[in-house]
Amino acid sequence: MFGKYALVLTLPLLVAAAGGRPGRPAPAPAAAHVASRIFARRSVATPPQLGAAVNTVMLDSANPRYVDTLLHHYGSVTPEYEMEMSQLEPRRGAFDFTNADRIVAFAARHGLPVRGHTLVWDEMIPAWVTHREWTKPQLERMLHGYIQTVVSHYRGRVSEWDVVNEPLTTDGRLRRNLWERVIGPGYIALAFRWAHRADPQATLFLNEYGAEWQDAKERALHRLVGGLRAAHVPVSGVGFQAHLSLSAHPPQAELTAVLRSFAQLGVHIEVTELDVQAAGSAPLAQRLAAEARIYAAVGAACHAVAACSRVTTWGVTDADSWLGRNQVGLPFAADYRAKPAWWALRAAVNPRA
Ligand code: XIL
Repeated sequence: MFGKYALVLTLPLLVAAAGGRPGRPAPAPAAAHVASRIFARRSVATPPQLGAAVNTVMLDSANPRYVDTLLHHYGSVTPEYEMEMSQLEPRRGAFDFTNADRIVAFAARHGLPVRGHTLVWDEMIPAWVTHREWTKPQLERMLHGYIQTVVSHYRGRVSEWDVVNEPLTTDGRLRRNLWERVIGPGYIALAFRWAHRADPQATLFLNEYGAEWQDAKERALHRLVGGLRAAHVPVSGVGFQAHLSLSAHPPQAELTAVLRSFAQLGVHIEVTELDVQAAGSAPLAQRLAAEARIYAAVGAACHAVAACSRVTTWGVTDADSWLGRNQVGLPFAADYRAKPAWWALRAAVNPRA
């Protein structure tokens, strides 16, 4: 998640890099047409769906409590790491879909939509990619082939993809990751175009963390997505990871305003990786109550914005959280009891429940 940066993000640069007409955004009707064609907005009467990141370790544990909790409370899944590049192509040309296929098959058995995560990221890149030099044409050819192979493999079984993950730094500059350093800022537009060509029906997301506040990173993300769509790049969704904590979480009104401002770009909105770090010295009950208030604020913000269709928590129980059990960051306790966070999230996304 932590890389260097150098480029100041400018719209003309991005539009040019995206292969669009430099400096002259496309007329809105084209973009609006693309938006209306790509997805139907949730009606406010229909609450946002709740999803969870799952992994094969938990599914293989054959723990009936895990599967029961997942199926009873959630309506979609995201493979936590099984679809990362290091998992799918550990050696050049040697694709291994085994584990990701097991999650996709589990989801299909239970009628759950799958969020593909993630095609282009600065983490979990296999050594055969990072331990060599690449020319721009070589890396473009490699990434094009990777995206084409993966998205085609899951065509019709994965309804949406996090195509590019975490492209920005905290102060809103384009992260100098491998893809940007070698291919240039246009890697983002290319990745979306390749993914769209491989599966024109999939909803394609740009996924970012730390953009839940109205600050430089959020403004840069808004410029990035607006510029890409102005260049007719098929970005049809924005994912807000929402890895929050008791000390770092946006006020509900601010998050609602952020989600609404992105909805005005004509994109689908999702909260894609919600968890709330709640470790600390205060009494547990006090921390869990504070955590529940944050879950409620996120759920209410998504419910208030019709374009926000889903809140995904990054795991099910504290025992299987990437944060570690002591952060008690998820809606269910390690013993599968629903925490205050779960009841607060559920009530917030569906006040009529
Ligand atoms: C994390 C997973 O939870 C870990 O199991 C894995 O080892 C590394 O990635 N932002 C993201 C996710 O987009 O892919 C990360 O997931 C958490 C931060």
